[in-house]
Amino acid sequence: MPDLRVNYAGLQLKHPIMAAAAGITATVERMRRAEEAGASAICVKSLFENPIPRQGDPSPHMRIIRHGQGPRAFTLYSYEQAAHMDEYAYADLIRRAKESLGIPVIANIDCASPEAWSRYATMVEEAGADAVEVKSCPHGEHLMTGDELAAAVETVKALVAIPVIAKMPSQLTNPYLAALELQRRGADGLVMFNRLVGLDIDVDAHAPVMHGSFAGHGGPYTVPYRLRWIAQAFPELDIPICGTGGVSTGEDVAKYILAGATCVQLATAAIVEGYEAFGRIRDAFAQWMERHEHASVDDVRGIIAHRVLGIGEVSRHQTVRAEIAPDRCTSCDLCRRVCIYDGVAYRGDHGESNYQVNENCVGCGLCRDLCPAGAIAMRALDAE
Ligand SMILES: Cc1cc2nc3c(=O)[nH]c(=O)nc-3n(C[C@H](O)[C@H](O)[C@H](O)COP(=O)(O)O)c2cc1C
Repeated sequence: MPDLRVNYAGLQLKHPIMAAAAGITATVERMRRAEEAGASAICVKSLFENPIPRQGDPSPHMRIIRHGQGPRAFTLYSYEQAAHMDEYAYADLIRRAKESLGIPVIANIDCASPEAWSRYATMVEEAGADAVEVKSCPHGEHLMTGDELAAAVETVKALVAIPVIAKMPSQLTNPYLAALELQRRGADGLVMFNRLVGLDIDVDAHAPVMHGSFAGHGGPYTVPYRLRWIAQAFPELDIPICGTGGVSTGEDVAKYILAGATCVQLATAAIVEGYEAFGRIRDAFAQWMERHEHASVDDVRGIIAHRVLGIGEVSRHQTVRAEIAPDRCTSCDLCRRVCIYDGVAYRGDHGESNYQVNENCVGCGLCRDLCPAGAIAMRALDAE
């Protein structure tokens, strides 16, 4: 049995899969459900300084936008910003969560003024939070810059002894530099990244969908974006990374860990599937570890980060060429139509092999992936 334990900014986790701050962690009862289902830590729904989102959520405030077929082809579009309470009730929530749960409880605060950053951070520490996430809502009134987030981290870090974790926005110009700066300014860990902020439009009503404004969006399709920055930042950081965004399978967790994350947070999978998602994903990740004979998560972390080639290291020689299997080709013509290199020719009535790849093929790989009949393979040029 592989050792799934990880140390995240001083917090000992049984395995890397935590519950992210969202409605699923907004009450002690829900936090307990997440713990029972297998989450290794709880990030509590955000405490906002802004009193407007504290009042409640619009209805409806969640919408599934489909991008085609399949369990991963969707966006959870949502507008659920803050815990519906003030700072005193939030501190009490943290206190009760600590009494009731056996796993680490991480508070999450979202402020605009230095006064509130200081006061709220102190309050959640006194209430017993094991750590505090510092962040700004991606669809709030003001989306923080990396510098503003770093200033908030510095303010909070000067006051509390618990780990201060910066939850980074997705939409930064250079998340790599922002990550280094957050470390320099005292962050004990980084969450990479919060959700994207988006807008969806009802083209018949000529209006924003749902509640009439911007909303958070995300889903499994966002994983590669996050991996790209985690893999670049990991080798330069001394502090741990918590990957977040789109985790819905054991393989997603494996990708985050391979890129350099210590742990992951998830919300959407538990929202659309139920809290059981935590146990299912943990078990699937454990099976991946076992299948590859990895003894511990620490053995695997960041392996890929060191294998990502730099711009000057990527080989730009052609190594493969497409090849069409005549017995599988259905003559649908798609490969010829999509080839911008004129690498596929229609040869008239040649029986089974109407289509043939020619010397213009540069081996881009697109026709293989688009061929509905699976009739195209990439053949190594050396083998010719
Ligand atoms: C419905 C919903 C509510 C969320 N609320 C918060 C929040 O209050 N504070 C916060 O920092 N992040 C919030 N998030 C973002 C999550 O904490 C997390 O970063 C992200 O959703 C992880 O990606 P995933 O949902 O694809 O697993 C919310 C996400 C969702 C889907």
